[in-house]
Amino acid sequence: MPTNIDENIHKSVLRTEIVELLKPQGAEIFVDATLGLGGHAEAILSVAEKTRLVGIDQDSEAIAIAARRLEKFGDRQRIFHANFSDIKSVLATAGIEKVDGVLADLGVSSLQFDSAERGFSFRFDAPLDMRMNAADDDTPTAAALLATLSEFEIAKIIYEYGEERLSRRIARRIVWKREQGEPIETTRQLAETVEKAVGRGKKDKIHPATKTFQALRIAVNGELEILERFLRDSVEILKKDGRLAVITFHSLEDRIVKQTFQNLAGKCVCPPRFPTCICGASKEVEILTRKPLTAGEIELAENPRARSAKLRACLKLR
Ligand SMILES: C[S@@+](CC[C@H](N)C(=O)[O-])C[C@H]1O[C@@H](n2cnc3c(N)ncnc32)[C@H](O)[C@@H]1O
Ligand SMILES: [Zn+2]
Repeated sequence: MPTNIDENIHKSVLRTEIVELLKPQGAEIFVDATLGLGGHAEAILSVAEKTRLVGIDQDSEAIAIAARRLEKFGDRQRIFHANFSDIKSVLATAGIEKVDGVLADLGVSSLQFDSAERGFSFRFDAPLDMRMNAADDDTPTAAALLATLSEFEIAKIIYEYGEERLSRRIARRIVWKREQGEPIETTRQLAETVEKAVGRGKKDKIHPATKTFQALRIAVNGELEILERFLRDSVEILKKDGRLAVITFHSLEDRIVKQTFQNLAGKCVCPPRFPTCICGASKEVEILTRKPLTAGEIELAENPRARSAKLRACLKLR
């Protein structure tokens, strides 16, 4: 366990805004569904003396650090190693029925992104892993996906999750390498293969493999598939006037949060040709953020990772 790692390796984004939206005041219970290094959790627990918090993360390295950081709050906090798609069963295990607030700060932490051996980044050469739950042997690594999926499936992942126009060219080269007996096994091999497939302009500020890396990470961890269900489950476990706050880091996630909140706020999402509504839209929540909140200049200067962060929140009505 990396007990010598500084918890400050990851700067929590929009921390003030999260506390203002969740409003810890007294004996409330909150769930931090993406505990990470415990920065938001610590902020929430520090505001009001009797507030309790359930923390969830699928990464045991993160949990070890968060546990140490939150130790000072004693039994006001409990931490679970789980996927947030299991939020309802985690709460059942904790013996809690309803909560006052749920927070999710999606994506990877700096601990994950900056750990060379986890394989999330092309800045270091490492096995192409990208599993957030590295202890879970049932989840195929990014290298395993590239070794087994068809060219079409690889292109689809890169196109849909990376919004990469040149996805087919990239997939073709990955599969061609595989057929030459040179499967992509490391971050550097993938970065070089993408660069060869699409070229790199002299003026390009971001590496041409950035979108492909994002796409693979989303695919490996099933990030988008579980998001809508998680949002609906979270609203279900809220008390009346309870709040759900979600921070996203790319447009695909933000779109899911925005549309799910709108549907939960009563907006019908049936296709226009349907004569009657079958999506069951009913007004469960009020949206608290008409436009998503974003980081101000001071935070951006301190934490460039906050640049793409968008925070949306809603309030349960019944
Ligand atoms: C951006 S970090 C959270 C940082 C945290 N809010 C803080 O202030 O330190 C995201 C965390 O969510 C975790 N995570 C992402 N998806 C998850 C999921 N489906 N279930 C559980 N944890 C998840 C990651 O392992 C990572 O530790
Ligand atoms: Zn409808």
